[in-house]
Amino acid sequence: MNKWLLITGCVASFSAFAAAPQELLRQYEAQARQENAAFAGFSAARGATFFKTERTRSDGQTASCATCHTADPRNPGRTRANKVIEPLAPVANPLRFTDPAKVEKWFGRNCKDVLERACTAQEKGDFIQYLIDLK
Ligand code: HEC
Repeated sequence: MNKWLLITGCVASFSAFAAAPQELLRQYEAQARQENAAFAGFSAARGATFFKTERTRSDGQTASCATCHTADPRNPGRTRANKVIEPLAPVANPLRFTDPAKVEKWFGRNCKDVLERACTAQEKGDFIQYLIDLK
């Protein structure tokens, strides 16, 4: 293999590699700045409120992130079909927030489920900040 192929091969395998939650937060930070010029950082306290806030959906049902992930995201949760969900907090589950594609997929599904819209980068960052700060 020539040198160039070796280098591009390394870059490709590196980008497919798991990122640290902090790395993901920096990506959401860049996005949040684009969405809002007045962006002033992420807040674990705001993330905690976001996590617990019950919202009434258009079908009349109430839901929050805690509905499935429980009030303490260090604990395993349950889907509405009663399937176990591994804990969301990295302290209890180190794989959380290390796979950007998985994170985006589930923000997409769950924000739509609970808020009936996409989450903003600010909301995603606050949420992750809250979870990674849990000890
Ligand atoms: C209807 C149940 C349900 C609700 C409500 C719910 N989730 Fe989830 N969530 C899941 C399931 C199922 C998974 C994927 C299974 C797994 O990863 O263990 C998941 C995984 C995730 C992940 C992936 C994290 C990672 O790194 O693996 C994120 C992010 C997430 N949820 C965010 C949210 C947010 C934000 C809310 C509230 C707006 C929310 N969820 C509400 C069921 C739910």
